[in-house]
Amino acid sequence: KILIIDFGSQVTQLIARRVREAGVYSEIVPFQSAEQAFNEIKPDGIILSGGPASTVDIGSPRAPQAIFSAGIPILGICYGEQAMCLQLGGTVESPDHREYGRAFVTVKEKSPLFDGVWDLGTSHQVWMSHGDRVDGLPAGFEVVATSEGAPFAAIADEERRFYGVQFHPEVVHTPDGAQLLSNFVHKICGCEADWSMAQFRAAAIKRIQDQVGDKKVICGLSGGVDSSVTAVLIHEAIGDQLTCIYVDSGLMRQNESEQVVGLFREHYNIPLVHVDASEIFISALEGQTDPERKRKIIGGLFIDVFEDEANRIGGADFLAQGTLYPDVIESVSFTGGPSVTIKSHHNVGGLPERMNMELVEPLRELFKDEVRALGKELGLPASFVGRHPFPGPGLAIRCPGGISREKLEILRQADAIYLDEIRKAGLYDAIWQAFAVLLPVQTVGVMGDGRTYEFVCALRAVTSVDGMTADFYHFDMDFLSKAATRIINEVKGINRVVYDVTSKPPGTIEWE
Ligand code: XMP
Repeated sequence: KILIIDFGSQVTQLIARRVREAGVYSEIVPFQSAEQAFNEIKPDGIILSGGPASTVDIGSPRAPQAIFSAGIPILGICYGEQAMCLQLGGTVESPDHREYGRAFVTVKEKSPLFDGVWDLGTSHQVWMSHGDRVDGLPAGFEVVATSEGAPFAAIADEERRFYGVQFHPEVVHTPDGAQLLSNFVHKICGCEADWSMAQFRAAAIKRIQDQVGDKKVICGLSGGVDSSVTAVLIHEAIGDQLTCIYVDSGLMRQNESEQVVGLFREHYNIPLVHVDASEIFISALEGQTDPERKRKIIGGLFIDVFEDEANRIGGADFLAQGTLYPDVIESVSFTGGPSVTIKSHHNVGGLPERMNMELVEPLRELFKDEVRALGKELGLPASFVGRHPFPGPGLAIRCPGGISREKLEILRQADAIYLDEIRKAGLYDAIWQAFAVLLPVQTVGVMGDGRTYEFVCALRAVTSVDGMTADFYHFDMDFLSKAATRIINEVKGINRVVYDVTSKPPGTIEWE
């Protein structure tokens, strides 16, 4: 077990993620409660995170002094390195020259930290982000790597097994960082690689039980991976104390509502209220053509309907949400800089504030791919777990201009055919997101001997890592031709199909 003491870095969770990837269990605790956690958890090693404060400031955070006499290995990262140095009698300075971004370190001494990764005398790319730096080592330490801006880029007291790095091994911009952390937990702390999603599941269930006790929880299901995994996990923890609410906006894809309701109600036996609010949503959207206005109407109605239903069920103290770690912080991509901007991003924007309920968010520590792994662990069907993202406002933002039931139905059919062809061609998992868009434009065509005047359907498919940037998917023409032919032949109301070859930026993935 590894204890991670958090000094408030934006990327502390990435440390935990790297430790998990190395197959080792870890817990993150804020520095204020670290002493108690340390006594309870009895870790095999400790990692001190980075943080936004300056160690030279009076009253800045420190690690519990007791950890330094426990005889266990400690790795301090950035602020954590400086705090460790100060607490062991070294010194830290605030130089004029700061170091942000890519840097190169040169290995000066052999160390188990570098074992099999970095050889003596070699140089390696790392990611730095610091104003202060160590300038006097505590007794027993030596420099094991240096960089131009940080003469004490990596330090070690091999005797006591204390290590410090000024750079951030947890971010991807330090290409060998994951291996260095793996060395720390395996070779230095002696932890076995025996952690798995099964253990996360068990621990999460216990945490939910402790938090909720015998109270009631409600959970909004969207049909997406995050809320589905949240619901199944909570149900496993507290059974029928959980009620799920599925707000059916009428803006879902073909058969989607039936699939969601079927899976949760019949397969998992989870109490589920299916609210058919399609009339409310579609009539409120009538005549609305401005994309932002459409989004606002949908977001507002969602909250109204959900709240009404929750009040009708009554008696719930907790609201469950599938918040993921990237939702918790503004950005996991490491941009550096001393300011910490944390945004509490709610999946159902504004709901928790309105409802005044305590939140249960069992996925807060996880990244998307880890949630998928947890979903598999919980037995969710692979087709569910590997789903493409689907936006909250649903098909309304895939029907530019005004929407109507008829247009939604045409779009639904075209979208289903397109995805069916993608699946048949074995391309679903290679594509990050694919969907059809129904344009508010009619064009002339000829079918049989007759003139047609029908809508244009645009097909979109992109590759992406996180949805922030994307490239259009390079289908071969035979595929596009086949999908287009099927859509025009089978969907009444569409007589022309186009393919969107815009990347993001400058386009966005959705059309609205
Ligand atoms: P854009 O269109 O901004 O989309 O490039 C990026 C990703 O976000 C999804 N998306 C949303 N997801 N609520 C959501 O839950 C929304 O309002 C929303 N708008 C866009 C989009 O499908 C894509 O995956």
